[in-house]
Amino acid sequence: MTVYQATASAPVNIACIKYWGKRDTKLILPTNSSLSVTLDQDHLRSTTTSRADPSFTRDRLWLNGKEDEIKDGGRLATCIREMKRLRKEEVEDKNTDEPKLSTYSVHICSYNNFPTAAGLASSASGFAALVSSLAHLYQLPVSASTLSLISRQGSGSACRSLFGGFVAWQMGSDPSGSDSLAVEVAPQSHWPDIHALICVVSDDKKGTSSTSGMQRTVETSALLQHRINNVVPQRMKDIEKAILEKDFDTFARITMADSNQFHAVALDTEPPIFYMNDVSRAIIAVIVEYNRLSIEAGTGYKAAYTYDAGPNAVIYAPKANIKEIVEFIVTYFPQEENSFKDVFSLFGGGRLVGKVPAGFNENVAKRFDVGAVKGLIHTRVGDGPRKLGDEEALLNADGFPK
Ligand code: DP6
Repeated sequence: MTVYQATASAPVNIACIKYWGKRDTKLILPTNSSLSVTLDQDHLRSTTTSRADPSFTRDRLWLNGKEDEIKDGGRLATCIREMKRLRKEEVEDKNTDEPKLSTYSVHICSYNNFPTAAGLASSASGFAALVSSLAHLYQLPVSASTLSLISRQGSGSACRSLFGGFVAWQMGSDPSGSDSLAVEVAPQSHWPDIHALICVVSDDKKGTSSTSGMQRTVETSALLQHRINNVVPQRMKDIEKAILEKDFDTFARITMADSNQFHAVALDTEPPIFYMNDVSRAIIAVIVEYNRLSIEAGTGYKAAYTYDAGPNAVIYAPKANIKEIVEFIVTYFPQEENSFKDVFSLFGGGRLVGKVPAGFNENVAKRFDVGAVKGLIHTRVGDGPRKLGDEEALLNADGFPK
């Protein structure tokens, strides 16, 4: 008997121009366009196996080993329904000899190789991997942008994880959402020198989710209207140009300004939303000081911070600067012995010793205790979803999690 099964992995993306606000909450249509960098799946990824079989009685999904309910009318159900619809339209209606996979129930098993507790958004890579594995299962002859229309309905930011490199989510204008999709601004190979250092900041309290936070901002923030109408459109043009020209100065300036403005509109929400904490703000202070030194020396910006809906910092920088950045970050935010996985061999197996660059004003932040930053992840710009072989499948012979 033929087994209809496919496995795919998809990357995490971190926005430089932030998506914050929906004009349609059901279709997930944003109030502004956004732009992100796709991170390398060698370090952070979601992997998903999907199988269609006439013996399955209902659609089921397991996430990190635990079964997740697929709620009627929910985001997961929408993505699965839309993928089945595409299978029918693109394959079964055109070639009636093809098996009617769209009429079979599916079993889906997904796994993130990074702990949810790290506070890294997994919904973007998760929905992108889900849609990618179903696209392979259904052998859909469609583009990544078309698939992004579907992953967008799982989680807005997930549409940008359908591409590698530098990716724009064009907000579109059609009420149906047909033009609200992701496009590649430049592939990974265009600017592979962009690396990222993720500072995982401890966070005990339960924060406001992106979904509910952004809707409150849409309903109450006057500043958001200014951002949507007067700020983002120009920034999108400017940062795309900076990426195409590999102009790190402009890229860094816009990335930091947009992170700041996103957190400003969060604060402008009623009641206000705080995503950054004292540790986040201290990381901003040391990055600002690091840039001040190089700007005064005439060599321009060396790093850019950005923060999503939580306290973690993502620092983008050319590869050559990452060693120095790790050194001053661990000076202020000491790490447990061996907590930093030196995947790019910056320290050549030697010990990582904290130090600040010459001329650095050490008083810009206080020194925190071990654990304030509970981990550092060094990664870089990466490629888009990958089709994986059967040896990496997450479902066993019977179509249940291994
Ligand atoms: C701050 O994509 O998680 O990370 O569409 O409601 O699922 P939903 O929201 P989500 O929001 C991400 C917000 C952000 C900025 C960004 O990634 O652009």
